[in-house]
Amino acid sequence: MRKILLLSFIFLYSFVALAQKNLIPMPQHLELLPQGAFPLKGNLSLASNTFEPQAKYLANELESLLKVNVNLKKSGTIRFQKISHTVAEQHDYYELKIDAKGIIISATSESAAFYAVQTLLQLAEENQITGSIPALEIKDYAKFTYRGAHLDVCRHFFTVDEVKLFLDYLSRYKLNKFHWHLTDDQGWRIEIKSHPKLTSIGGYRAVTEDVKDSKLTKDGRYGGFYTQEQIKDVVAYAKKLQIEVIPEIEMPGHAQAALAAYPELSCTGGPFQVGTSWGVMDDIYCPKEETFALLEDIIDEVITLFPSHYIHIGGDEAPKTRWKTCAHCQELIKKEGLKDEFELQSYFIKRMEKYINGKGKSIIGWDEILEGGLAPNATVMSWTGIAGAIHAAKAGHDAIMTPVSHMYLDYYQGNPQSEPLAFNAELRLDKVYSFNPIPKELNTTEAKHILGPQANMWTEYITDFKHVEYMLFPRLLALSEVAWGTSDPAAYKSFEQRVIHEFAYLDKMNINYSKAIFELNGHIVSKEGKMYYELSTIKQDGTIRYTNDGSAPNAQSPVYQGPILVDKTMTILAASFANDRMIGSVLKQDFVISQSTGKVIQLQHEPNEAYLANGAATLVDGVYGNKQYFKKNWLGFNGEDLVATIDMGSAASYSNVELNVVDQNASWIFYPQAVKVYVSNDNQNFSLIKEVGKEAIAASKGTIKLTFEKQKAPFIKVEVQHLNQIPVGHAGAGLPAWLFVDELTVY
Ligand code: ACM
Ligand code: ZN
Repeated sequence: MRKILLLSFIFLYSFVALAQKNLIPMPQHLELLPQGAFPLKGNLSLASNTFEPQAKYLANELESLLKVNVNLKKSGTIRFQKISHTVAEQHDYYELKIDAKGIIISATSESAAFYAVQTLLQLAEENQITGSIPALEIKDYAKFTYRGAHLDVCRHFFTVDEVKLFLDYLSRYKLNKFHWHLTDDQGWRIEIKSHPKLTSIGGYRAVTEDVKDSKLTKDGRYGGFYTQEQIKDVVAYAKKLQIEVIPEIEMPGHAQAALAAYPELSCTGGPFQVGTSWGVMDDIYCPKEETFALLEDIIDEVITLFPSHYIHIGGDEAPKTRWKTCAHCQELIKKEGLKDEFELQSYFIKRMEKYINGKGKSIIGWDEILEGGLAPNATVMSWTGIAGAIHAAKAGHDAIMTPVSHMYLDYYQGNPQSEPLAFNAELRLDKVYSFNPIPKELNTTEAKHILGPQANMWTEYITDFKHVEYMLFPRLLALSEVAWGTSDPAAYKSFEQRVIHEFAYLDKMNINYSKAIFELNGHIVSKEGKMYYELSTIKQDGTIRYTNDGSAPNAQSPVYQGPILVDKTMTILAASFANDRMIGSVLKQDFVISQSTGKVIQLQHEPNEAYLANGAATLVDGVYGNKQYFKKNWLGFNGEDLVATIDMGSAASYSNVELNVVDQNASWIFYPQAVKVYVSNDNQNFSLIKEVGKEAIAASKGTIKLTFEKQKAPFIKVEVQHLNQIPVGHAGAGLPAWLFVDELTVY
């Protein structure tokens, strides 16, 4: 099976296996030696007198990979040796020398030996078919000491076995920090023996979303937590893989699960439910003595479980709403001589830092720990951008780079239309690969404070572990090279070939991954009053096949020859094929054709420049905007109405107008207040023929339909009135609401 897969990949993509090894991360130096090869067949002997745990690990892995016996002896054809290496910027230095006589692994530390083993295992896999590894020499080291990945187990819960799989994936690609996001509004996931309600109450939430019944408790709640024994087990497992586990205990925000258990630690006293929707909650810890006592008890237990030098204390997204009106908070601000609630946040974090430092540990916090002044020894995890890291490094603090722009793996990695539901933003493989963790604003000394990059896996939209894999792969491979320090955006194509090669491994291991790099791009083009759908792919090889009747494309579907005429309502499904095998994901596009499709349309006000799409024509292109993704195919207006006039032509006859609108209040987007339809014979004098107001719009579920007597006037004007002021109780209250509209169908 594996053989066939590999051969077909070789055939399809004709990568140059000999000139370049398919290693990820690519080592710093690799030299192919002119002759010789180490045979992988027959029994192997492995010396285990030094780096014994790594030698045993290698023996086990080689046995299961190659189906050979590996004898552990005092001496062997594969052997380890300890070396020293003194270049300060080169971490985990190792050398790997392979020739016909044997394999010598020279490593500076246990972790370096482990990484040498990972490299060797990748080489053994790659050369399994040929039966020998060609002679070569590798000298390798990591550029960054911190090479991290984060997993949110609060929004959705993952089992110990799943967490271990996550760790396996990190280790193969030489990542060494696991940031375990253990507490949040929607669930408290770590057993704290001194405060059992944190998990008995905070560990479970009412179900308001679509999760499998098998994941619910007997009384229909969703959740779970890790016992302290399970946590120790995960930490020990990670240690063998040279991974440090960094726990995150969120404070003062993202605390609703804890407050559901202990409402007296809030400003208002509650009561609270464990969160059932995503976002930023106003109710956070109130900085009372009882709160600090609880948090200190928690920290006391946490530090016994995690040998890591770091405790992540969160600090992000803590609204000051409650603190502003809380008598205790206001008194504390006065008593401590603080300027405002931001300084109160700083007081909170500094106080917890002091406690944690007192236990010999250091804190990491998200960007917002900069608010009101940074705690003296804190490391900043820069997520909103890189400004936090720049600020921290210039002030002599360490920083970890996790900007949303390059490191948020909950974003779409391909066309949102064909990808599973994700956070409303895009992060493609090439963008991850292009990330340079060192901001150019830093000088050499300041740059030393950049510990390294980390990718974050928030799981609001990820309900099971197969989906975690899907969001992780292949972007984890790009992170790997960014963190190891061998990524080269100019050589992206060569990296992509190695990624495609790695897909054979992922297939063999039954690891789920996105094939978005093979995806097709679709464009709507209009020519001589007709609409066409044009398909293209970044890959030269392969054939595009498509259907227009809603059925899945297969090896018998028509081959794409050129733009497809769209002259009626239809769904086009298309995919790339090679040798009759589908190699990418299916691109799906619905077209809804009405009398307004492709007609000339004019707008009175331009949309906001961030949400222009293809301008006015977007409204009549036959394609509906995706309600999960506003960056494409939607026109967005901020504080303006949409006023569109369509020239329907002299043969027009119609009695309906339909339009789609969005209501996403957390993003300041609200339904319009009213929609009015006018007609005119001369494009000058318009008469109102139909209008709908707030109630009808609220009941519309986002598709507003206006029906009227049959009209033949060639000009139709649609006025969509935005909400002037966001109502009290919503984010952005008092400001003008955003209005999002797409597709005006007239029929
Ligand atoms: C974050 O994404 N709120 C750190
Ligand atoms: Zn308070």
